[in-house]
Amino acid sequence: VSAIRIDVSSERGPYPVVVGANALAGLRDLLAERGLGTGSVYVSSAPVWRHLSRRLDRGLPAARTPLLIPDGERAKTLATTARIYDGLMKRRCDRSAVVVAVGGGVVGDIAGFAAATFLRGLRVVQVPTTVLAQVDSAIGGKVGVNLPAGKNLVGAFHPPSLVVCDPTVLASLARREFRAGLYEVVKYGMIASRPLFDRVASHLDQIFDREVPLLTDVIADCCRIKADVVGRDEREGGLRRILNFGHTIGHALEAVSDYRRFRHGEAVAYGMLAAARLSVDRGSLTADDEQCLADVIRRLGPLPPVSDLRIREALDVVALDKKVVAGRLNFVLAAGIGQTRTVSDVTPRELSGAMRAIGMKS
Ligand SMILES: NC(=O)c1ccc[n+]([C@@H]2O[C@H](COP(=O)([O-])OP(=O)(O)OC[C@H]3O[C@@H](n4cnc5c(N)ncnc54)[C@H](O)[C@@H]3O)[C@@H](O)[C@H]2O)c1
Ligand SMILES: [Zn+2]
Repeated sequence: VSAIRIDVSSERGPYPVVVGANALAGLRDLLAERGLGTGSVYVSSAPVWRHLSRRLDRGLPAARTPLLIPDGERAKTLATTARIYDGLMKRRCDRSAVVVAVGGGVVGDIAGFAAATFLRGLRVVQVPTTVLAQVDSAIGGKVGVNLPAGKNLVGAFHPPSLVVCDPTVLASLARREFRAGLYEVVKYGMIASRPLFDRVASHLDQIFDREVPLLTDVIADCCRIKADVVGRDEREGGLRRILNFGHTIGHALEAVSDYRRFRHGEAVAYGMLAAARLSVDRGSLTADDEQCLADVIRRLGPLPPVSDLRIREALDVVALDKKVVAGRLNFVLAAGIGQTRTVSDVTPRELSGAMRAIGMKS
């Protein structure tokens, strides 16, 4: 099976994203081709490793002694990073070592951050194993950990040397986790590609069945969009902001529910619905296109409720958001399906109107 290769340009030089069914089986060759084959240290979490190690270890001796970190967002801390440093020390890693992160966005972010900082920087290879990580977090070089005060408050830009996305690994993903990643796929359609949006909308059953050829194409489309955006704006000077479509209100929902109620993508789904409403109110999106988005989101499955979440509290979170620069909130509107327009004059009143429209509590 031939793999799709997407090159991402980066200030440290370009790196490839390889998307292909069973790309994992070719990991050894992919690493060797790029001079990344020796001195590698695999970082993963126990549940991911349980599912994937058998597919990895043939011919990859380092994969027999992975560095396993605790699973889940709660482990995305400096303490876990320190455990990775210890593991790297025990393995006597020098600056030629290569960290291979195998897991979802959490593993990718922490392992990437450890790699960015250990000995002032080891190379990192991202092997994302969730939909979210394959279409989003593994590409672009943002790595980091949470502090008790908030998410992703400590981090770095550390572009990977290689990203390997194998859609067949998604077979073992829990259903909710799988669906949560699909909302980000819908986001890519909304911000950059009507054809991608339509394809997802018209093939939802096959996507739910995780049909590999379709997933491969859809994931590659998303990777192309992310690669294009970060290739032109690696450090988020402007363009990269379009990736935040649906994320202003999405993040606020995650925060007011203490990060317990929603998977990230689910909160983004609500955020996109709210942003779409605001876009309709501003005349940049038609009611028909808003309906198309609402239909896809509804068909993607049930979302946790928002009717008990207070608009006022969510507005307070928005005001503290990293996307507020010098008191101005940059807000990404939909300008049709497949296009965006960023504005910086959205008022609290408009935001609360949009939040009311998705059913939040006044
Ligand atoms: N760096 C970035 O640009 C960026 C962008 C978006 C999100 N993120 C970060 O990504 C994180 C969320 O990532 P996530 O949604 O992948 O969550 P996650 O990494 O916690 O993975 C979700 C769950 O899926 C399990 N899992 C992973 N792969 C599996 C597989 N193939 N089979 C079975 N189970 C599997 C994991 O064990 C975990 O319990 C957040 O911390 C977020 O901040 C980073
Ligand atoms: Zn997101």
